[in-house]
Amino acid sequence: SAMDMGYADYGGGPAMPAGHHHGSSVAELKPAADRAADVSVRLVARKERFDIPGRGPMDGYTLNHTSPGPQINAKQGDLIEVTLVNESVPDGMTLHWHGVDVPAAEDGVAGITQDAVQPGQTFTYRFVAVDAGTYWYHSHQLSHEQVKKGLYGVLVISPGTTDVVAAVHTYDKVRTVNGGYGERRVAATGTVRLRLINTDNGPMAAWVDGTGYRVVAVDGTAVNDPPPVEGKSVLVTAGGRIDLEITLPPGKAVRIGLGGGPTTLVIGDGDAPTAPEPKDRVDLLTYGKPAAALPFDPAKATRHFNYTIGRRPGFFNGKPGLWWTINGHQYPKVPMFMVTEGDLVTMTVKNTSGQVHPMHLHGHHVLVLTRNGAQATGSPWWTDSLNVEDNETYEIAFLADNPGIWMDHCHNLPHASQGLVTHLMYE
Ligand code: C2O
Ligand code: CU
Repeated sequence: SAMDMGYADYGGGPAMPAGHHHGSSVAELKPAADRAADVSVRLVARKERFDIPGRGPMDGYTLNHTSPGPQINAKQGDLIEVTLVNESVPDGMTLHWHGVDVPAAEDGVAGITQDAVQPGQTFTYRFVAVDAGTYWYHSHQLSHEQVKKGLYGVLVISPGTTDVVAAVHTYDKVRTVNGGYGERRVAATGTVRLRLINTDNGPMAAWVDGTGYRVVAVDGTAVNDPPPVEGKSVLVTAGGRIDLEITLPPGKAVRIGLGGGPTTLVIGDGDAPTAPEPKDRVDLLTYGKPAAALPFDPAKATRHFNYTIGRRPGFFNGKPGLWWTINGHQYPKVPMFMVTEGDLVTMTVKNTSGQVHPMHLHGHHVLVLTRNGAQATGSPWWTDSLNVEDNETYEIAFLADNPGIWMDHCHNLPHASQGLVTHLMYE
């Protein structure tokens, strides 16, 4: 029930053509009841032992006997239908479409948009893939535990190019890419779109050894006029997705550095160079070119909120400790952010807590306006997973165009389970 929405559980689309919903209605997301699915997937969730190639067996949870679960591929406009069968995941589970602005009823948040699907039960999700982009899905019941143990997978909504996915996930201190440990290889030639997905709790630097690249999308939204990058890494926020366009040098392979550990992804044939993490990093605040027009004028906001993250000693679930606060309040005593449909919202997100927090708002994409007072001057930076370092302040804006109750939480999932959670509520 909505009452046990609980702190126990917690835990962004591509090109932005005109009509992309960052600025328009989401009614088009809701498929007619009699429309046949274009992509139909049955996912059976189990508690079982599975194999991490390159490493060995792991006890956790699977979808159709694998972790990550099957990659779901759809084309823009497809009706996606996913039937979740929970065979044996204790405590129940759900599927949340991370970064996809689905109608609220499909959002898969246990205790808010649905009850957890208990062992023996089934639940069907149906939504239209309105925006192309790189996304992922994961359970949103006891997320900190269930995601870590394997209940996640990749969702790609594509306009169609050579795609290489790099979904990074750490199981019990073992960092993997696409479920495998160590040097993993994929064959490709020509120009590829590399879809980096960080399903972990902390930020990860990624870089390309062997050639340059362009950052072509952030959290599913296309970057406007992305310039070539050489000798820099790019930060993938926890929960975030970054798409790189990489042209493979003929006859050579490139290596994708993923946070600097033993796990890397080699794309192409042959030896790939190994280089340490570059010192410089792409700054999304200034990368690319501003768009001709934004779907709204942030100067005309109709609501403003402050979201200040702090930490203080106290009790949580009867346990003493240093606990997160939002605007000085500790979960569950954090007031919701109330909006009316159509509001243009600005929010000042400030982190005074001593640690980094990847802030994730469900059902909406937010536009970054400033960071520590500096204006965003690059391509419009739309995000659903924003890396807010200690002592940083971001100003963001979004259109309240998707009625429902939406979680707005830290995607370092243990932090969310420790109360770094609030909600955006439509009145
Ligand atoms: Cu990845 Cu609350 O979500
Ligand atoms: Cu956090």
